[in-house]
Amino acid sequence: MRLLVCGGAGFIGSTFVRQRLREHGDEVVVLDKLTYAGREENLQDLAGEQGFRFMRGAIEDPAAVAEAIAAAGPAQAIVNFAAETHVDRSIADPDAFVATHALGTYVLLEAARAGGLRYVQVSTDEVYGSIEQGTFTEDSPLAPSSPYSATKAGADLLVLSYHHTYELAATICRGSNNYGPYQYPEKLIPLMVLNALHGDSLPVYGDGMQVRNWIHATDFARAIGHVLEHGAVGEVYNAGGPDEEANIEVVRRIIELTGAAQSQIEHVKDRPGHDRRYSLSSEKVRALGWEPRVRFADGLAETVAWYAENGWWWEPIRSGEYREYYAQQYGRALQD
Ligand code: NAD
Ligand code: TYD
Repeated sequence: MRLLVCGGAGFIGSTFVRQRLREHGDEVVVLDKLTYAGREENLQDLAGEQGFRFMRGAIEDPAAVAEAIAAAGPAQAIVNFAAETHVDRSIADPDAFVATHALGTYVLLEAARAGGLRYVQVSTDEVYGSIEQGTFTEDSPLAPSSPYSATKAGADLLVLSYHHTYELAATICRGSNNYGPYQYPEKLIPLMVLNALHGDSLPVYGDGMQVRNWIHATDFARAIGHVLEHGAVGEVYNAGGPDEEANIEVVRRIIELTGAAQSQIEHVKDRPGHDRRYSLSSEKVRALGWEPRVRFADGLAETVAWYAENGWWWEPIRSGEYREYYAQQYGRALQD
């Protein structure tokens, strides 16, 4: 297939691109704005590979989108990962979240409609809000809590409206919390791993009993590819990981894997409006033949080892603008 992958220089997008090129023989053009989270380093191993091309541009720019679709041969499908993805940043400054999720998704949908392209929107379990017990299905009501999840939910509704109104061949795939190599260290797992390795404190929000449903990025990327190939248009598919765990337990596992000290744990002020638990039922996508392959204990150990061995990837982040972000968010400086 000839694919336009938007946001393909990010954590999950680059994982998806690697799979589609190497395991499916697809041709892929990546369109990515290269925000702080988007990095060409994430695609470095694919440079020069047959069928792969990178273009820098924003999804809210119709000319850049048209050029990228044409460069893909033209593209037969758009897979949209492009997003602002950090809840804490959406609380501090929601502006870019509205622009990318609302306007950007609209521009891509118009382009898909004009070209008669298949469209897959990558979305999140956070659109359903928090759930104390049980698990969300695709029929659960949307009840997003943060500017991040509310703008993602808005984008999902726009996608479904394009299917309903214009018969656009669109599908949505909603994932639970991802982890794995190449994740920007503002997110829980890479932040804790790098802080543990550097002797920094491990900032746990509130009591640390918030629960997340962890999925390895290679499993979520395969789910998205599966939905692209086998999903019915106009449908939503949840893809949740096989394991749920409280944040404090995740941090304890990371301490064990890195040899850090328990005393590095520091309970800090809770996130405003913090969702207590996420949990996704994946029965619908499992019925299409997908299932997760990586259990959390194995995937976490492999992820910790990847960060420990790949300083080339995170050193430029940790020594750059991220230090200022960190000091502002956590009220303390990182160690050198
Ligand atoms: P990420 O922050 O690592 O990457 C996002 C990418 O989008 C970056 O490369 C960035 O440069 C690009 N981008 C941002 N705004 C853009 C714009 N306006 N135009 C073009 N490119 C733009 O994020 P990620 O964790 O890889 O998430 C990818 C997708 O998966 C997102 O849609 C996110 O909502 C969804 N998702 C993420 C998780 C998770 O746990 N990380 C879970 C479920 C769903
Ligand atoms: P995060 O990785 O930001 O993902 P999300 O908010 O989308 O689930 O956070 C995962 C959980 O970890 C969430 O409950 C917030 C918590 N957390 C901390 O306790 N400390 C931190 O420094 C960070 C970044 C997150």
